Amino acid sequence: MAGLVVTGEARQAKTLAEIRTSKSVTVCADPDNLPFSSRDPGTPGYDVEVMRLVAAELGAVAELKWVSTVSARRALANLTEGECDLFPGLPVSPGFADAYPRLGFSRAYYTMRHVIVTRVGGGVAGVVDLRGSPTAVEALSPADLFLLGTGYPRRTYRTQEAAFAAVRSGETRAALLWAPKAGWFVQRAGVADLTMIRVADPDLAVDFGIAFLRKDQALAAAVDQAIAKLRANGAVATTLGRYGVPLVDGRESATRTMIREPDPIEGRLLFEANCEQCHGIDGRGGGAVPRLQAYPLGAEARFVRTVLEGRNARGMPPWGGLLTDLQARSIFAYVHALVPVIEMAANAPVDERARQVFAQVCATCHGVQGGGTSIAPSLQAFKGTDEQFVETVLSGRPGTAMAPYRGVFAPDVARKIRDHVRQLSRVN
Ligand code: HEC
Ligand code: HEC
Repeated sequence: MAGLVVTGEARQAKTLAEIRTSKSVTVCADPDNLPFSSRDPGTPGYDVEVMRLVAAELGAVAELKWVSTVSARRALANLTEGECDLFPGLPVSPGFADAYPRLGFSRAYYTMRHVIVTRVGGGVAGVVDLRGSPTAVEALSPADLFLLGTGYPRRTYRTQEAAFAAVRSGETRAALLWAPKAGWFVQRAGVADLTMIRVADPDLAVDFGIAFLRKDQALAAAVDQAIAKLRANGAVATTLGRYGVPLVDGRESATRTMIREPDPIEGRLLFEANCEQCHGIDGRGGGAVPRLQAYPLGAEARFVRTVLEGRNARGMPPWGGLLTDLQARSIFAYVHALVPVIEMAANAPVDERARQVFAQVCATCHGVQGGGTSIAPSLQAFKGTDEQFVETVLSGRPGTAMAPYRGVFAPDVARKIRDHVRQLSRVN
């Protein structure tokens, strides 16, 4: 029926057979994420170059579709919506795969590692030297969680690039960054006084592969075969080398044992896929949805119960049956590690800081006037002394959603918050 227009039909990702017949495969990639991918034909990025080679192995040409990867969840929706057939540059860990049950993942085409970027002769030669002064990291990246685990001081930034800028300007002594990003920044900045130290720790190595819709086993097998060939003949290593990426070693993700302990990196992925749309980016909350940043350690059991049972009547869906107990604990490990993000001018006076902290942090649970919500008690009705108030704020209440804020802001800010709450109750 030539000329028949089919409307309203959802687009479908291609099967291997359809890719071969049409000699075309659509690849999603970020237009501005060098050295991984870029819209610039002169430097397309190594993920794009590797995908062209993979496409050729499938008997097709790669057509690129540019999508932002700021939110992994939104980017990957392009696969389920049939906007593209393959998506390179994704972690192939059990945690990531579990967060996206409709997607399949290839074997790894390379292992992404980390490097310390620091000044030549600055006294940093390896990870142990990071214990002395804060290291710049991207907030909640594997590097951030790694430093959190070692207890070494860290200073968090929104992006890899901002963390690099911190070490470049001398704001921090070192930065712990993804090796490909660091190599790219150093090369582009053309700075001779910065050096990169490779970190061998297996906790800081992440395997990367290609995602596609799980439905087509033939496509999965063909992509794996293409990767095996391109790794064996050195094509992947050569491509990565052109972008200054340290060469891939032989570690295979398939031989990695499944993680049985709560894993904050898996938790981050699960959070982004399932919780972020309500609890906000970085768990900062908003409206009637509580902030989950810096969730206190003692509250794990209660957290897991709330997640699995939900509070349906109050807008918190139950996740039992969708998430396992271990996955809920992994999300807990992630939100526990989140440092509350408080946006304010660096040298704001202390009572202005107190007002900002109250509005941005305390109000999500205690209410905008501090009058209490279903989640947390009224602060206006607080009966203890000022010292008890400050002590509660700094030390938190173990086993409840009240986190310890020592280390997030200074005691004098906590004292001013007490005054601020007192003012609020006078006004009302
Ligand atoms: C559809 C929106 C929505 C989604 C999705 C959602 N939540 Fe919630 N969540 C809420 C709301 C609303 C509340 C507050 C319920 C109340 O008032 O008791 C809440 C409360 C919570 C609480 C209790 C906070 C406290 O201490 O009182 C936890 C813990 C929690 N959510 C975790 C999660 C996790 C983890 C996920 C993802 C697996 C998730 N939520 C997904 C809306 C959501
Ligand atoms: C994630 C939700 C949450 C956030 C954010 C939060 N609190 Fe709480 N807070 C609670 C809960 C829940 C309790 C009750 C704990 C308990 O059962 O003892 C509490 C208790 C308190 C108490 C003791 C109240 C009493 O009557 O014993 C004080 C004081 C307090 N919070 C101050 C603050 C301040 C100040 C901030 C902001 C820096 C803050 N809280 C942020 C949830 C929160």
